[in-house]
Amino acid sequence: MLNFPKLTYMGTYLISDVSLEDKIILISGSSRGIGYWMAKYFAEMCGSIVIVCSRHMENAKKVSEIINGKTYPIELDVTNNSNIDYCICDIIKKFGKIDILINNAGYRFDKELWYKNLHEIEIAQFMDILNVDLLGSIRLAKAVISQMVKKDNLINNKSGGVIINISSTPALSGHIEGSPYTIAKSGVIGLTKHIAREYGIYNIRAYTLALGNISTDATYYSMDEKHKSIAEEETSLKRWGKPEEVAKIASHLASDDFSYSTGNTIIVDGGTIMI
Ligand SMILES: NC(=O)c1ccc[n+]([C@@H]2O[C@H](COP(=O)([O-])OP(=O)(O)OC[C@H]3O[C@@H](n4cnc5c(N)ncnc54)[C@H](OP(=O)(O)O)[C@@H]3O)[C@@H](O)[C@H]2O)c1
Repeated sequence: MLNFPKLTYMGTYLISDVSLEDKIILISGSSRGIGYWMAKYFAEMCGSIVIVCSRHMENAKKVSEIINGKTYPIELDVTNNSNIDYCICDIIKKFGKIDILINNAGYRFDKELWYKNLHEIEIAQFMDILNVDLLGSIRLAKAVISQMVKKDNLINNKSGGVIINISSTPALSGHIEGSPYTIAKSGVIGLTKHIAREYGIYNIRAYTLALGNISTDATYYSMDEKHKSIAEEETSLKRWGKPEEVAKIASHLASDDFSYSTGNTIIVDGGTIMI
C-alpha cells in the first residue's frame, strides 16, 4: 500500500510579482518536498499550469487536488525512457508545448550508503543514484528540448524555454560523505552549461540551483536535534532554508527577469559556500 507523503512546512507565502501566467511547467518529483512546494508556488502564486509528477499516479493526483491552481498530474519515472516519451507526448497533445522544465527528482536518502567511503561503494550502487540524479535529468532534458526546439514553439513563444536543474552544494565544495550523490550532482552542473551553450541559439536558457540544507521531510523532519543544529550553524544566516525560498528563486529564473543570464549556478544555502 502506498503512503501518501506527509507535507510538513515551516513557512508562509508572500505574493509573487513574477508573471508566468499559463506557462506550462513540468516539475519532476513534485509529489513532496521541494518539488511539491515549487509546484504549489508556480500554480498558486504565478498562475502557471503545473505538470505534477510522481512515480505513482495516485500521489500525483492527490497533490494536484491539494494545490489551488491549474495542474495536470502524470506518472513519471525518470529512469524509464519509454515512460518519459509517453508523458511528453501526453503533455504535448494536451497543452501543445512545455515552457519550463525543473529537473528536481532525487534518489531517496539511503543512510547506509551515505556514510560509506567511495572505495566501499559497489558500482551498481553508484549507478542507482546516477540513474536518477544525473541520467534522469539528462533523459528529461533531452525529451523536453526536442519539443522546445520545434519551429512552431519558437514562433509562438517569446522564450524558447527554460530548464532548471536541481543540484547540491557538495557538487561545488566536495563532501566527506555521499560520493555518488556529489558526483551525480556535479554532472548536473555540466548538463546545465551544455544546454545553455548548445541551445542559446534557440533562446533556451538553463540554470543550476545548488541547494544547501532545505527543510523537507527527507531532511530536517527526519533528523535529530543535534544534526539539525549542526546544519544550521554552518550557514551565515544561522537557519535552514525553506522550500518556498527555492520556489521563489526558481520562479524568477524561469521568468524574463533573467533573460540575459544563462548557464549559471545559483547557490541557495544561507551563505555557507561563497564563490
Ligand atoms: N532538501 C535538501 O536539503 C536538498 C539539498 C540539496 C539538494 N536537494 C535536491 O533537491 C531535490 C528535492 O529534494 P527533496 O528534499 O524535496 O527530496 P524528497 O522529499 O525525497 O523528494 C524527492 C522527489 O523525487 C521523486 N523521485 C524519486 N525517485 C524518482 C524517480 N526515479 N523518478 C521520478 N521521480 C522520482 C519523488 O517522487 P515519488 O516518490 O512520488 O515518485 C519525490 O517527489 C532532489 O534532487 C535533492 O537531491 C535537496
